[in-house]
Amino acid sequence: MHAPSGVSERIALGRCNAVVGLQWGDEGKGKYVDLLAGSHDAVVRYNGGANAGHSVVVGGERFSLHLVPSGILSPGRLSVIANGVVVDPETLIAELDGLRGRGVDTSGLVLSDRAHLVMPYHKVEDALREELLRTMRQGGPEEGRLTEIGTTRRGIGPAYADKVLRTAAIRTGDLLRPEVLRERLELACWAKSAMLAPLGDPGSPTRFDAKELAAKASSWGSRLAPMMRDTTCLLHSLLAQGRRVLFEGANGTLLDVDHGTYPFVTASSTGVGGIGPGAGIPPRALETVIGVVKAYSTRVGGGPMPTELHDPRAQYIRERGREYGTTTGRPRRVGWLDLVAVRYACMINGVSMLAVTLLDVLAGLDELEVCTHHEIDGERTDRFIPDATDLARARPVYARLPGFKADLGGVRQLSDLPAEARRYLDLVQEATQVRVGLVSVGPGREQTIVA
Ligand code: IMP
Repeated sequence: MHAPSGVSERIALGRCNAVVGLQWGDEGKGKYVDLLAGSHDAVVRYNGGANAGHSVVVGGERFSLHLVPSGILSPGRLSVIANGVVVDPETLIAELDGLRGRGVDTSGLVLSDRAHLVMPYHKVEDALREELLRTMRQGGPEEGRLTEIGTTRRGIGPAYADKVLRTAAIRTGDLLRPEVLRERLELACWAKSAMLAPLGDPGSPTRFDAKELAAKASSWGSRLAPMMRDTTCLLHSLLAQGRRVLFEGANGTLLDVDHGTYPFVTASSTGVGGIGPGAGIPPRALETVIGVVKAYSTRVGGGPMPTELHDPRAQYIRERGREYGTTTGRPRRVGWLDLVAVRYACMINGVSMLAVTLLDVLAGLDELEVCTHHEIDGERTDRFIPDATDLARARPVYARLPGFKADLGGVRQLSDLPAEARRYLDLVQEATQVRVGLVSVGPGREQTIVA
């Protein structure tokens, strides 16, 4: 596995950089993080948990990562899971074992001693809440009404909720403090059993035993202890030494708990705003923000998506783009590129450069549509509304562009792209007023154009 062809050297990067998704996740961030990792000393996850699914193809081999930063595939770098991530210890250990089994050196993994844990009861709680919401809407879904969120059921929301509720939350460092751990587990198991038992079907695991969990937790602790550190201190000392750090946002800006399509969002701050609380790095340290935008839109789970397609073109794009969830396998909802949403996400993140992905997927369509405005209650606007109830009323206003036929997989220069594909990229730049610096035309590291 070798470093790619000097992409980092050809784009202007600072010492402290971030890659974030500008849509509803699955933008292809993993590929760019992997490409840029080789020229950074550390790659850092600061939000989310095993709900994320980053696919990276190296040497024709596909790796699906959920908790481990994509930087793990670049030997000699630190891969940091910072305090803002919610860590499912079983998933993390299984992921590390899987990587080692495929010959990947995982010795660079560093885990914050203050990251909160996703416990088995969090996953049960997530699933039961979703079931409850699903049954509440029986009788027919109505646009804008409360339905299940369509979570990944990885326990992300309940783990963050317990973090904010404080008393029964467990952090990675607690795995190494048996007294603290026992006390917290007793409280958590009592509270979760009392709360969840009335919701569960007979036979589903809604009673939790503190002793049983303590035994499991102690084995997680022994495995994870050598990786645990104060990651805030580590990152500050790297930056003070002039080393380069890359922050890898998980999920996507439109799923941000504050700035996304609430309540159909995830439970963390997915944009660069999450780096402060999630890794202890002050906002002013950040120099370059690379915003990753897929050439069309996808969304998994519920919530409004103004440009969603319900015709054969959706299936065409879904199959060509392999648009099935990395974490859950669910078919993703597919639609045209929504520049109202992307422009908003650029603003929220202070994006310095756009990195477009999956442009090759659009080849073969006669006409391409791009949403330039929303129309709400008969009024045209270029303002994105980060609220599910109001956004459900938005209708897309499209610009229509001619499609392109050629297979883009072998293109390495912007000038070799068909004129129609270049026009498409120009429109993205015009609408966002942000330069397109990178274009991906296939999953391989080499299938990347530096614009
Ligand atoms: P949760 O993060 O599992 O609570 O799910 C909340 C919403 O975010 C659901 O609609 C999920 O499908 C979506 N989601 C969470 N993580 C990702 C991701 O990495 N890619 C795409 N969608 C995600």
